[in-house]
Amino acid sequence: MKFGVCYYPEHWPQARWATDAKMMREAGIDIVRIGEFAWAKMEPEEGEFTWEWLDTAIETLAGENLQIVLGTPTATPPVWLCKAYPDILPVDSQGRRRHFGSRRHYCANSPAYQTHTRRIVTAMGKRYGQHPALVGWQIDNEFGCHDTARCYCNYCAADFRKWLENKYVMIDALNEAWGTIFWSQTYSHWDEIDPPYLTVTEPNASHVLDFYRFSSDSVVAYQRLQIDLLRELSPDKPLTTNFMGNFPDLNYHDLARPLDFITWDSYPTGYAEVQAQMLYSPTDHRPTFAYDAGDPYVTGFCHDLTRGLKPDKPFWIMEQQCGNINWSHYNTGVRPGTTRLWTWHALASGAEAAVYFSWRSTLFGQEQHHGALLHHDASPAVGYEDLQAMKADRALMAELSALPVKAHVAIIGDYNDLWAIQLQPHRLNFGYHRHLFVFYRALQRLGISVSIVGPDADLSLYKLVIAPTVFLSDERLIASLTAFAERGGDVLIGVRSGFKTLSNRVTDQPLPGPFRELIGGMVADWHSLPPGVGYDIQSTIPGLGGQATVWAEALLPTPITPQREGTIMTTGVRVAHYTSGPFASYAALMEKRAGIGRVFYLGWYPDDDQAETLLAYLAHQVGVPRLAELPASGLIAAARGPYTLLLNFTDEPLTATVDGQLIPVGPRDVRIFKRLT
Ligand code: GAL
Ligand code: ZN
Repeated sequence: MKFGVCYYPEHWPQARWATDAKMMREAGIDIVRIGEFAWAKMEPEEGEFTWEWLDTAIETLAGENLQIVLGTPTATPPVWLCKAYPDILPVDSQGRRRHFGSRRHYCANSPAYQTHTRRIVTAMGKRYGQHPALVGWQIDNEFGCHDTARCYCNYCAADFRKWLENKYVMIDALNEAWGTIFWSQTYSHWDEIDPPYLTVTEPNASHVLDFYRFSSDSVVAYQRLQIDLLRELSPDKPLTTNFMGNFPDLNYHDLARPLDFITWDSYPTGYAEVQAQMLYSPTDHRPTFAYDAGDPYVTGFCHDLTRGLKPDKPFWIMEQQCGNINWSHYNTGVRPGTTRLWTWHALASGAEAAVYFSWRSTLFGQEQHHGALLHHDASPAVGYEDLQAMKADRALMAELSALPVKAHVAIIGDYNDLWAIQLQPHRLNFGYHRHLFVFYRALQRLGISVSIVGPDADLSLYKLVIAPTVFLSDERLIASLTAFAERGGDVLIGVRSGFKTLSNRVTDQPLPGPFRELIGGMVADWHSLPPGVGYDIQSTIPGLGGQATVWAEALLPTPITPQREGTIMTTGVRVAHYTSGPFASYAALMEKRAGIGRVFYLGWYPDDDQAETLLAYLAHQVGVPRLAELPASGLIAAARGPYTLLLNFTDEPLTATVDGQLIPVGPRDVRIFKRLT
């Protein structure tokens, strides 16, 4: 495990840098990330580069044996650039231009911005690309943050049209795919099509979905532009950008693919307040956790989703919270031990580096209230004290960070499905990540490691694959799930799967469309259920019962004529059925043999207890080990190599049972031990 810190030499007098560098080394820091917002200081006027300060900063840090991650500063175009080329500024869906004055104020499709990006990245690559202290580049900063994933300017409108023409070739193909005959939206020419600007009521969802895809592709292409330059000028240095956990506006699988390693910015107290609203429904069980520790399931969800972007590689925390933050509701003060707990949690989840945000609280600017390792007056803050305390952990941390995280269970998440559900959720609180999170939490409570992976993932790494909602039927994913089951894996498919085509049109086949053969049955009808309404369920799986709430589908096992030659026709069998309500006697959960594996179709949106019972049953059947029996929420189990880690996010001592032994874990502490098996 390496330790790093985000540092802004441009915020401090040059005379201070040597002291900071020395203090960093003494604190056990290995890596310093710099530069990502310093364009105005690198190039105060167009073409006038002032590298001396950055040279000195790098030499000062390198002089203390610190390694450098250099950020390209494109998240903060300087004012001269915005004044000279005002059309680099992004436009919102109401046609309002966003102004200079904060950050991320650029359009990824602006030709002028691309030109100036090339200039600054080339200049940096040439100057620092071979520097021995450089260990990697961070491209830009938090793509999409502050609602910047989508721009509605004229460049974007023109590029969107080109993107559509390239995709559909014939305008009638687009009309057909989008169903523009609905509400008289038929297009005759490409140039009639706009981005989905502010409309009177809902715009056509297929139109918006394509705009989301186009916008994500635009950011991926903009990142590519920087990648190509850096690969040439700095060929040996690994490239990354800093992701934001479960951020929904960009296709993170596409953004991750060309990078060498993945990093994300982890702010557990902020996530516990802000993200929790996106991830929990009012009736969900919330875990207990110390007020300043953050919700371990929410943080863990982001860790496991980040790891799933490159399942075979360790990731970094590029910004690890180490004190209070400044952008949430309460910006909770952080107590001793919490930063250490977060660091262990990241490590347990597959991180190999934690870079703390930041070195010292700034005296000015938008983030004056943000905590850091050092207070404003440079005295040690609580995170710094934790860093000192972690010196005792360092040897074990180093050993663990070289070991793989082995998850036997995967949850499949796809941004196309996420966007399509987001555009037409149909029911309040039916969120895509919210739905995934039900299964995730259940696995966490069971002490089962899980990776959240994309639709292209290599499923052979897993024993159990959960596809909570494959809303848009991706034929490749269906083929991959089929092959996985036939080779002996268990697949669990959830509600609303197979409902639509990739164009966001509803299938004209009986539901669940192309999934019928795989599940050996059909969905005869479906209901969205308002709060307080539930249909009773009975199951042959021990303990699985209660009511279907939120969403229920009436399932019917039926023989489906196989599409492929040589496939044996099998029918699903019912494992649970409804005993009350309009779906009484229909199946609610079906199981079908596929090759030497099994496919389950779950016909309702499970609550916490149901998800836990079902997944405990499936995990047991396929031989997925539970790392521990966790008696209470707030205790997390994870594994790296032969080590199991138990992390207590509460203020109370908690006890887990591992291999029949009771293991106590102190408040906000971690226990690490080698497994017997
Ligand atoms: C991140 C961002 C940092 C800083 C931090 C504050 O989103 O990348 O630059 O603003 O939040 O918590
Ligand atoms: Zn634009």
